[in-house]
Parts: sequence; C-alpha cells; structure tokens
Amino acid sequence: MKSLTTKQQLSQYLQAERSTGATIGFVPTMGALHRGHITLIERARQECDIVVCSIFVNPTQFNDPKDLEKYPRPIEADIEKLEQAGCDVLFNPPVNEMYAGNEQWHLEIGELEHLLEGAFRPGHYQGVTQVVFKLFDIVKPDKAFFGQKDYQQFMVVNRMVELLKLPVKLVMCPIERESDGLAMSSRNVHLTPADRGHALVLSRTLQQVKNEFGAADIFTLKEQAVTAINREPGVELDYFEIVDGVTLHVADQNSKSVVALVAAKVGNTRLIDNMILR
Ligand code: PAJ
Repeated sequence: MKSLTTKQQLSQYLQAERSTGATIGFVPTMGALHRGHITLIERARQECDIVVCSIFVNPTQFNDPKDLEKYPRPIEADIEKLEQAGCDVLFNPPVNEMYAGNEQWHLEIGELEHLLEGAFRPGHYQGVTQVVFKLFDIVKPDKAFFGQKDYQQFMVVNRMVELLKLPVKLVMCPIERESDGLAMSSRNVHLTPADRGHALVLSRTLQQVKNEFGAADIFTLKEQAVTAINREPGVELDYFEIVDGVTLHVADQNSKSVVALVAAKVGNTRLIDNMILR
C-alpha cells in the first residue's frame, strides 16, 4: 500500500492510474479503524480498480474541542488493517495540508443540516461537507463509500453531490455490529465496561422498534423506545426519532422509507445508531 501525505503526491499518483482507465473507489475516514470501516474498503475493492482510503481527523467538524483532542489515532494499527484489506493508497495528510489558515466555508444544504444530529452538533455538517468536498476534489473518485451508521451524514453528502453536481456515485454500506448488537464505532474504546453494558440499550431498542414496526403506530413506538432508553442507568438520551428516510422529518403513511435514529451519551461518550424499518 502506498502511504501519501500531500495533495500533490496523491493527485499525481491517481492521475497516472486514471489515464490507464482504472476506476477509483474512495473511503474517507478519521481512522481508529474497525470492521465497519473495513467493510467499506472491501466493498470498494470489489467495485473499483484502485482503492483509496483517507485518514484525517477533521478539526472543522468537531464542536467539542475535548472530543477532537481525545479522538483515538492508532495509525500503525490502521495501516496494518488497510494493508490486510487490500487498500491501494492511504492518504493521511497533516492538518496544514488540508487547511491553509482560517478558511470560510458555507454550503446551503437546507434543513437537513439542522435536524437530528445537526440540532445537537451545530456546524458539524458544514465541517463534514467542507472536508469531503476537499477530499473529493483531490481524489476525484468514481465511487465513494459511506456507512449507514452515519445515516444523516450520507444524506447530507448526497445533497452536496446533487447541489454541486459532483461526478461521483455514493454507495451506502450496512452497519457492522459487535456480536451483541453494539454498532461499531471508533468512540467505543472510550466506553468503560459498565458503559459498554448500558450502551446495548440503543441497538436493543432499535431492534424492538423494528420488530414491532407495522403492528403499532409510530408515536407509540417512539414513546416506548424513549421510555426504555430513559430507564437505562448511565444513558442520557439526546433523541430517538422515527423519520422519513429521505426528508428526515417524522415519518407518516406516505413515507416510502422509514428509519429509526438514536443518539445518546453513555457515560462520557456520545453514541449514535439507527435501523432502517422500511
Ligand atoms: P468515521 O467516523 O471514521 O467514519 C468513516 C466511515 O465509516 C463513515 O462513512 C461511517 O459511516 C463508516 N462507519 C463507521 N462505523 C461504521 C459501522 N459500524 N458500520 C459501517 N460503516 C461504519 O464519518 C466520518 O469518519 C467523517 O465524518 C468523514 C466522512 C471521514 C469526514 O471527516
């Protein structure tokens, strides 16, 4: 695997590959890679000739400086996992390679930005679109692979691609879970053994809602879910919503796709999870 740290090295390398007709698959990450990330690499491996993974802990998408500071950065282990997964190129730039001084960025993505995660993390999706735009601009991928784990992020990036008419196809990959149901996340390393147990209420509740979806109305399902999560010690719920998979507004009978999304602090760690109900 090639490991590159400058935009110039990366675009030169990819330009040469592209000129031979190779297709490029891109998996943007912030590192601390787990099996969820690796499934994205594997999917890209299946669908594209050259697989590029970026590891960049993007400062502009963190609203809590402590969260940014304590974000895990096990680069040696990450490199090994990428090599095993058959990744061709790692792009791991320093912050000053991606940001020159105090840049301004605002992309009008409408209310998608302010719903759900957006309400709890002001500015987060501006930071995400800012860095994903920059990365797409350097890599110029044919396909980019994102996880359903960050469902709203996928919708936001998709909106950016539509608005700016970016020539990339986005692929959403399913959520990888631990055997007990916990959605894999780089932040799980911060969970204490007690937190780790309490955190299971999130996936368990999503699964219950999925099982009962159709048999009970959405309002009742949500109430039951909120009650179950609030009963769990050590868990502080930010939101549990059952929404239209496209608008992210509360779902109704006309919603073609329906998704349940949850965010909660477990101990000091904020976790998100979701399940597609229809
Ligand atoms: P990060 O949290 O590292 O996630 C990178 C990609 O891995 C995202 O598309 C995310 O949805 C996916 N992913 C995370 N956990 C997953 C799981 N359990 N199963 C399947 N996929 C999973 O998301 C980001 O980084 C950043 O916001 C980024 C897009 C890189 C921009 O900085």
